[in-house]
Amino acid sequence: MQKRSGEISHCSIESVKAVLLFTIDNSDLSTAYKETSNISAVVYTMATSTSINRYKFRILITGSSGYLGQHILKSLVEADRDNEDKAGAKFAGFDITAAFGTLSSFPSDCVSLIANSSSTLKVVDKVVFDCTNETSLKEFFNTRDFEAVIHLAAISSPFVCEKDPKEAQSTNCPVPLLKALHNKNGGNDGVNERKETLFIFLSTDQVYDGFHAPYLEKDGALPINEYGKSKLAFEGHLLKSRPKIKPIILRSSLILGGVTIGNCRKQSFVQFVHDRLSNRQVTDFYTNEFRNVVFVDDVVKVISHFVRRHSNGDDDYLSHMEDPVYNMGGKDKVSRFEIAQMVAEVCGLDKAYCNAIEKTTSPISSQSLNPEHIIVKSPPDIAMNSTKLEKLTGISMLGLKDMVDCIFATREEDGVQ
Ligand SMILES: NC(=O)c1ccc[n+]([C@@H]2O[C@H](COP(=O)([O-])OP(=O)(O)OC[C@H]3O[C@@H](n4cnc5c(N)ncnc54)[C@H](OP(=O)(O)O)[C@@H]3O)[C@@H](O)[C@H]2O)c1
Repeated sequence: MQKRSGEISHCSIESVKAVLLFTIDNSDLSTAYKETSNISAVVYTMATSTSINRYKFRILITGSSGYLGQHILKSLVEADRDNEDKAGAKFAGFDITAAFGTLSSFPSDCVSLIANSSSTLKVVDKVVFDCTNETSLKEFFNTRDFEAVIHLAAISSPFVCEKDPKEAQSTNCPVPLLKALHNKNGGNDGVNERKETLFIFLSTDQVYDGFHAPYLEKDGALPINEYGKSKLAFEGHLLKSRPKIKPIILRSSLILGGVTIGNCRKQSFVQFVHDRLSNRQVTDFYTNEFRNVVFVDDVVKVISHFVRRHSNGDDDYLSHMEDPVYNMGGKDKVSRFEIAQMVAEVCGLDKAYCNAIEKTTSPISSQSLNPEHIIVKSPPDIAMNSTKLEKLTGISMLGLKDMVDCIFATREEDGVQ
């Protein structure tokens, strides 16, 4: 692979052993990564040489190796590229810190992302940033400042949360993260008044019980599974941490979208459906569980909207939000069976492989005769009204047909069959 001229970058390994210098070049990075793969704490810094004298807007993305994280990262870097051309743009790009967990392919997958961009991208692993570890967080924020945090890190599987509620609470309700950020911003002492950080939190529609749809934000949240409980608990802590932290809480529905830029532990539900139907595997899909599924590009637009407003110094806009909790769902209320049928229709696959079934287990019971067999309590109908968010941002969320069209049109353009 050819090196691009004018690019500078370095990779430093924090806390331990060594410092490596290398250019942004896939082959160099993979060598560097291999050499350091047995070193526990790794920070990669990748930057282009342009615009380094102007101020960059500093963003921390947690959970950036996840499905949504990779989409956000790509979009912010691309937005930055466009921004560079705009005369009088306030910022010389973004300074992004992308924190991930343990997905080892992630740093090298990031490399191609920042080509020709003014972004600075630092990629930090779980040893440097672990949202459950107070000591690590204190150290992390000691040397870093952020104007915005996009908090996505989570155990996002309701099944895993149900199996280990304690772990779910500790990861999905990371109070030490808020504490560290709050202290960094001057705490409550009133003497060390420094700044406020925009904090965008991806919560879930599963904070609602599923028996009183459609839900508005002001309706009571009463989660029936551990995933929903852990997310709602963090919402509460976040709201209490105002004004030093400016929260935006997005109660997201099931996210559907295209494939991620790099390897990811999971893609969205439509990729699963497409794989099953393409391989002619008969698959059961529920007909009686409903969600206002949301398009990943719309989620990215919403998050970018808030980042842009904050980066433009539009603080009044955020300060006047009395209740920064928003439902974030698409236009249509659908079941998994309807999603599967739509994928079949748009992709010209045989609908006969979609088997309609009703979920018969009581959604409020998690008991099973076999203690190894965990049944996740799943709210049956968590359709939401997202007008509050749409009005504020001016973004109209797509319905199912439009999003599935977009997802698979892109695949065809890319030559993916
Ligand atoms: N996807 C959806 O349909 C949906 C719907 C509603 C809400 N949400 C919420 O949106 C957010 C993003 O969802 P997603 O689908 O992108 O999730 P995901 O693919 O499961 O990604 C989770 C991310 O969290 C990281 N992580 C897990 N434990 C961590 C820890 N202790 N410290 C630091 N990082 C940790 C993972 O790192 P590694 O993989 O590198 O280990 C990964 O980057 C989550 O908060 C989720 O609850 C998602």
